[in-house]
Amino acid sequence: MIDNHPSIARFRAAYPGVEPFAIARAPGRVNLIGEHIDYNEGIVLPIAINLETRVVIGRTDDKRLRVRSAAQPDELNYDADDIPGHAATSWDAYVRGVAALLLWRGIRFNGCALWIESDIPPGAGLSSSAALEVGVALALMAAAGRSLPMRAVADLCREAEHRFAGVPCGIMDQYACALAQEGHALAIDCHDGSVQHVAWPKSNPAILIVETGIERKLAAGAYAARVRECEEALNIICAFDAMVNSWRDVTDEHLSALEPRLGDVLHRRARHVMSEIARADAAIAAMASGDVVKFGKLMNASHDSLRDDYEVSLPVIDRMVENLQAMNGVYGAKLTGAGFGGCVIALMDLHGVQCVQFDFGASPAIGDPQRLRFHHVAPAQCASVVYL
Ligand code: GLA
Repeated sequence: MIDNHPSIARFRAAYPGVEPFAIARAPGRVNLIGEHIDYNEGIVLPIAINLETRVVIGRTDDKRLRVRSAAQPDELNYDADDIPGHAATSWDAYVRGVAALLLWRGIRFNGCALWIESDIPPGAGLSSSAALEVGVALALMAAAGRSLPMRAVADLCREAEHRFAGVPCGIMDQYACALAQEGHALAIDCHDGSVQHVAWPKSNPAILIVETGIERKLAAGAYAARVRECEEALNIICAFDAMVNSWRDVTDEHLSALEPRLGDVLHRRARHVMSEIARADAAIAAMASGDVVKFGKLMNASHDSLRDDYEVSLPVIDRMVENLQAMNGVYGAKLTGAGFGGCVIALMDLHGVQCVQFDFGASPAIGDPQRLRFHHVAPAQCASVVYL
């Protein structure tokens, strides 16, 4: 029962005398295939996962927006009609970004208190930030008595991430959080914004996420660098052929003809974008026909391309992926999300999930097995609000 969820008791302890009236729940996500192509008008296939962020909300009569989180020592406290618009690198950027963008669209939530808690490990590449954004947006809209289509909520949250947190991300994370359906993967065509809910195969393969515990120190800078490299490569291709408007118009012939002009790095980035779009497309068809073996092979090929052409892997991640790929009952494995640490994902036979073990060999460079965490997840339902 949601109305006696422990988060509600913790809201009451955090804000004595304030009555909560709603709880927003927003899931994390993991991407199965289609990596680093959402910002290149490609095709991606994430699922929402059964790890979530909960935002409990109550009304106050002081015209303040107060926000407390189980994971943070300090309370955020703003004038509810005048949210500061500066960018920041802390959690406050996500909360304030969403609140400010709602206000700028005329959605006034007046005085309210928010209590936030999350099962999604922060910074692990499972979209704790998109879940925070979407959860806060739904809670504040409930306080304002307003609703927006979930797609518009996702777009607003992505804008908050761009303008307030300074991350030039694609739309995958926010769409997965706002639009996914339980028991389905979410195919997103980032060229036209269309989505398709692809039923999970009847054979019910398991999804294992392994948190590597490697801090994604390089991730933010390297992510923005990849976004720029792809823009640069596409500009060169567009200048060569006026008929090309997006990556979806680029052909293998363009890539071969332009290889000298692109140079080695941009040529490999472009090859990843093109090949990953084709793999994601093929993977959606494979999933729709229940062909998990083919799906797994496409995941393996995706990892190779992320490692060699897009260069967002690390030796320790490659070793983990190879270990997983060699295990009985594993259909495929790859890094997932932005890379440079974060998580690895495997699609596997349900019976194999309990037996996963890694052989890191003798090399001390291979990482610390103590820091690994395993999550056996299933395709979950998108974010929603429950009124108490
Ligand atoms: C991060 C971004 C997404 C996407 C992935 C890589 O998770 O937020 O938009 O680009 O990296 O597939």
